[in-house]
Amino acid sequence: MKMIVARDYEELSKKAADKIVQVIENKPNAVLGLATGSTPVGMYKQLVAYNKDKLVDFSYVTTFNLDEYLGIPAEHPQSYQYFMKDNLFNHINIDQSKTHVPNGMAEDIELECKTYDEMIRAHGGIDIQVLGIGNNGHIGFNEPDDELIVGTHVTSLTQDTIKANARFFDSMDEVPTKAITMGLGDIMKAKEIILIASGEAKADIISKLLAGKIDTQVPASLLQVHPNVTVIVDEVAAKLIK
Ligand code: GLP
Repeated sequence: MKMIVARDYEELSKKAADKIVQVIENKPNAVLGLATGSTPVGMYKQLVAYNKDKLVDFSYVTTFNLDEYLGIPAEHPQSYQYFMKDNLFNHINIDQSKTHVPNGMAEDIELECKTYDEMIRAHGGIDIQVLGIGNNGHIGFNEPDDELIVGTHVTSLTQDTIKANARFFDSMDEVPTKAITMGLGDIMKAKEIILIASGEAKADIISKLLAGKIDTQVPASLLQVHPNVTVIVDEVAAKLIK
C-alpha cells in the first residue's frame, strides 16, 4: 500500500485527480470506478478544470459508480446519480451513456445487481477505482460485518452511517436505510485503487486501515492485500498513523 500525505484538502484533491488523468493518458478508453461523499468533491472540481483546459479528454471514458441509495429516484437531489451529474458528468466532455450508477429504483433488484457486475466485466474491469472511507471503515456501502459480500448487492446501512448521512436530508425519516453497492470482490478486482480521506474525523479509521491486519469489521482493511493501492490523505487525517 502506497501512502501519500498531502498538505491539505486542496493538494489531496489535485493528487487524486492527477492519478486519474494519468490513467486516461495511458488508456483513453479507461474504465473509472467512482465514489460519492464529500471527500471526492475537490477531486471532481479539479477534473472539471483540467477538462476545461483540455488537459484530459473523457470522450472515450466509461464510468461505474460504487453505490446508490435504495428507493431514491435518480432525479432526487440526494441520489448519487444526481450527485455525479452535478459534480462531474454535466461539466465534462463525457458521453453520459457511458456513465453507470446502480439503479436504486430497479423493479428487479437482484437482476440489477447481476447485470451491473456483468457490465463491469464486459468492459474489461475497472482500471482505477476511487474510494472514500466511512468513519466505521466502510467502502462503497460495504458495512462492517462478520462476512463481506463479493459482488454487487443490496445492503442495510448501519446506524452510524444513517446518522452520518442524515446531514444531507431534511429529517431523519427521509434518510435511506438501504443501498445497492458494489461488493468487495468488485473493488478488489480493480487494477488500481486510490483511497482518499481528509480531516480529523478520518484519522482513527485511517490508522486502523494500516494496522497490518485484515478484519471484516473494518472492510477497508482488505485493501492491504491489493497489489496497487494508494492512500491519499491530508496531514490531519494522517496524524494517528504510527
Ligand atoms: C458514503 C459513501 C461512501 C463514502 C462515505 C464517506 O457512505 N457510500 O462511498 O466513502 O460516504 O463519505 P465522506 O467522503 O462524505 O466522508
